[in-house]
Amino acid sequence: MTNADQLQVTIEDMVQPGKGILAADESLPTIAKRFAAINLKSTEDHRRAYRQLLFSAPDLEKYISGVIEFDETLSQIDTNGRPLHELLARRGIVPGVKVDKGKSPLALSNNDFMTFGLDGLAERLQRYKSLGMRFAKWRAVYKIGGTFPSAMGIAVNAEMLAIYAAICQEQGIVPIVEPEVLNDGTHDLDQCARVTEAVQAEVFNALHRHHVVFEHLVLKPNMVTHGSMCSKQASPDEIAEATLRVLCRTVPAAVPGINFLSGGMSPETATANLNAMNANSPDAPWLLSFSFGRALQQPVLQRWLGKPENIEPAQEALLKRARLNSLAQKGQYVASMELEN
Ligand code: 13P
Repeated sequence: MTNADQLQVTIEDMVQPGKGILAADESLPTIAKRFAAINLKSTEDHRRAYRQLLFSAPDLEKYISGVIEFDETLSQIDTNGRPLHELLARRGIVPGVKVDKGKSPLALSNNDFMTFGLDGLAERLQRYKSLGMRFAKWRAVYKIGGTFPSAMGIAVNAEMLAIYAAICQEQGIVPIVEPEVLNDGTHDLDQCARVTEAVQAEVFNALHRHHVVFEHLVLKPNMVTHGSMCSKQASPDEIAEATLRVLCRTVPAAVPGINFLSGGMSPETATANLNAMNANSPDAPWLLSFSFGRALQQPVLQRWLGKPENIEPAQEALLKRARLNSLAQKGQYVASMELEN
């Protein structure tokens, strides 16, 4: 198979109606924060047990087409002595991996960030590919404030995302391109729309400049929302309308799938917003779906609490969120479904 054939097959497996992606790629500091919320220490064994719980949840493949993993998980084994990451491929879920090495403040700039990890990326991708990984993820982060993100911050991160995506495609790995405009702050919906539009326009300009094939990538953006401390809360219909407007202005129709991050929204809000997008725009040129981390996992952690006897109810909680988001992908979710089992 040529690289292009491999990329095409992977895209078809990842971008499927009624399915989305589970982000289970929390770095060590992030998973420690998530575990701290349930009073659990982030030991290697707890992380292993938790990822096994997620990957082995019955029927997950009905609603989840891909899982983003963290490097550490790839060297862990399940309780039957088999590599943990092989659980996914065996059930028809595409395994992928986060390949960026996190963010740092951008030097000589005010409140811009830059994501690291390009050094040696091609070699790391070859190793990941030999372990069965078929897609990768790189996250760039933008903070909204008085004068930021700056034009420099937007340009630098677009360039990094494009170089990353080009290296991935050259290795036959589908890149998930994740420019995340954070929702922390007091900004309103319009300000988030302006910044998201500027960010995405620059990202696609850079992807084009670097010869990245749009048909062979997945975009993972933020939804356009009010800031978490904004006094004026936008409704799911307003969020859907603003998000779609920005996407139409910036994302080529050649891109097959847009899988949103949840960015700290509650699970119910993230699902309602995704549903509004699909219900209001059934003819969008891209499949609009989810690649949630917290909005899929929060209820799971709250049920699990690190206790082996809670694995089953925790997996049921995962299945419920995955199923409701699958319905939202088709515009068929209604809030009253939250009350059902
Ligand atoms: P959230 O859905 O919790 O924002 O996480 C998605 C993700 O992968 C962030 O990089």
